[in-house]
Amino acid sequence: MTNSDHLALDKKNIDTILVLDFGSQYTQLIARRVRELDVFSIILPWDISKEKIASLNPAGIILSGGPESVTKNNTPRIPEIIFELEIPILGICYGMQTLAEQFGGQVTTAKTKEFGHASITLEKTSILFDGFDAGSSIDVWMSHGDHVSTLPDQFNLIASTPSAPITAMGHSTKPIYALQFHPEVTHTKEGSVVLENFVSKICNCKAQWKMENLIEQRILDIKERVGDQKVLLGLSGGVDSSVTAMLLDRAIGKKLICVFVDNGLLRKNEAEEVENLFKEKMDLNLLVVDAKKIFYRHLKGVSDPEQKRKVIGRTFIDIFDNEASKLKDEINFLAQGTIYPDVIESSESESKEARVIKSHHNVGGLPDDMKMELVEPLRDLFKDEVRRMGSELGLPLEMLNRHPFPGPGLGVRILEEITPEKVIILQNADAIFIEELIKADLYKQVSQAFCAYLPVKSVGVVGDERRYADVIAIRAVETVDFMTATWAKLPYDFLGHVSNRIVNEIEEISRVVYDISSKPPATIEWE
Ligand code: XMP
Repeated sequence: MTNSDHLALDKKNIDTILVLDFGSQYTQLIARRVRELDVFSIILPWDISKEKIASLNPAGIILSGGPESVTKNNTPRIPEIIFELEIPILGICYGMQTLAEQFGGQVTTAKTKEFGHASITLEKTSILFDGFDAGSSIDVWMSHGDHVSTLPDQFNLIASTPSAPITAMGHSTKPIYALQFHPEVTHTKEGSVVLENFVSKICNCKAQWKMENLIEQRILDIKERVGDQKVLLGLSGGVDSSVTAMLLDRAIGKKLICVFVDNGLLRKNEAEEVENLFKEKMDLNLLVVDAKKIFYRHLKGVSDPEQKRKVIGRTFIDIFDNEASKLKDEINFLAQGTIYPDVIESSESESKEARVIKSHHNVGGLPDDMKMELVEPLRDLFKDEVRRMGSELGLPLEMLNRHPFPGPGLGVRILEEITPEKVIILQNADAIFIEELIKADLYKQVSQAFCAYLPVKSVGVVGDERRYADVIAIRAVETVDFMTATWAKLPYDFLGHVSNRIVNEIEEISRVVYDISSKPPATIEWE
């Protein structure tokens, strides 16, 4: 299999803002904010090669924040090529500090870190703050330990706060600016104005990154690349693979073959719903493989969580490979719903210092004799862009706004051994919980919600009868990035109602508990 860059599309003939990543938790947010201005933006590690930067021909560069301190040796610095390009530069937080230091200014570590809201005062007008008068105050979000204490030569002060006297600065002759605060976070109320000033008025970028153009363009790209050949896609029913399927369907119709593997660990009625939507309603070329029995057989006696994940992953690959082998002679391309955060996370950094993050594989282990090229039409899109694309392509709202669902499915929500009986009990309980969340208009307010099947029994009474039955835990969390999460404070009346329904409608369950653990220390899933 060759991973051709053909549809990676990171080099485009449209105005591009390059975000150079120094490791900030907000780096992706910078690129998303730029794209919300309909301008294309791409993220690369700070130590990426000169050739790569030059080949992108960016209209401007934003230097992200980062966790390091420029006061220490061997911390990241801006590569010289950035200055040689003579294009506009905006440094944010760490990006500002290293910019100041590299131009001969001084950076000092403060005794206490500044984290949270601050009010900056504009000392002079600047095109970066176009729309604000000198002397006006702007509410911003700060998150830093170091700050610029002495302006570099040729730089002017633009804004200050009492704790960071040099909060914004600009070069006196070149379009180089820097900010101590974070314009990309929503807590900085006028942050989008500042970014828009940089992108539109300083870099002169045109708004060329529009969804309607994008869909047309992607369809043309796919047609041109695939021609009359065939493409295989593993459809999971999640947003990314569904949008990939719809885009390919528009481009090549029946030359797309989708394979959906029913592993017996899906939500209630999910396999039927996917088949109904994509095969019946949308007329996609969809093959549904009922592999429930094979999965249950392989999972028999397995209770260790990691072992379960391995068994489920391996079984999926075996079944997918088997289907692919049957079609071997016909298929030239494998499509995947890889999206931009997956690509950034596994992007190669030139140095060991930059963060090394997991490599991403949607499906792996296809037979060696299958010479398929990858087609990844969402490779440069953020999740919100994929959702917008899905919406334009007609993917129903319930699918677009669905909570994430783990690859191993209910397998990691049934503690200890998985049996087909437990799967049905859990599916029914989960369906009640989700139905009630939607009815109470709470589904959208939480980021992920589900039931887990606990490996304990408990005593209950139903009528006059003693019932010794199973326990279900309900879990709902609020989170932005799924790296940390807090348990959702769902109303007691609502929880009581869900518990009543589950215990009354599902005979095998005698007790319902609510999970009040946040992440960390707990994880979102139970296994
Ligand atoms: P945790 O449990 O690690 O979950 O706090 C964070 C997010 O990742 C999902 N998750 C998985 N997704 N395969 C997946 O595709 C997995 O093995 C897996 N484990 C957890 C989880 O549902 C949550 O959204």
